[in-house]
Amino acid sequence: MKLFLLLTVCTYLSAATSFITDEEYASSLYKNPRGIGCNNCHGDSGKGKLVAKYEQKGVMKNYGGSDITDIGFKDFYEALDTRITGMPRYFLTKDEIEALYRYLHKVKK
Ligand code: HEC
Repeated sequence: MKLFLLLTVCTYLSAATSFITDEEYASSLYKNPRGIGCNNCHGDSGKGKLVAKYEQKGVMKNYGGSDITDIGFKDFYEALDTRITGMPRYFLTKDEIEALYRYLHKVKK
């Protein structure tokens, strides 16, 4: 009985995940990656965004995320696996990082 229940739940879960396409999954991950959405700083399409202008020691500075649609997978992966000044630290799995990369670089699975 327990095994039957487990199988039913697993079947349901695998069916539920196939309701959305890979692109829809990556799009929602981009906007809600267990933390502040990438789109807030890198823009909706990842082309970069100016978040704020501020003055530091009399010099005007820009703060925002850069264009992340034109970078190799290795650099993309490393950026998400280390600490970057000005960007929150995420703890994404390799699969999640790959999904985000495909989404931003319009690469099909
Ligand atoms: C609070 C703002 C913020 C958020 C949210 C954010 N980033 Fe960033 N990100 C930055 C900043 C600032 C940099 C450094 C930009 C620079 O060096 O000019 C950066 C750099 C990067 C880089 C390296 C770019 C390069 O050219 O080397 C990648 C890749 C990246 N972010 C991806 C992401 C992804 C994917 C997400 C969501 C999971 C995300 N970022 C969320 C602010 C943010």
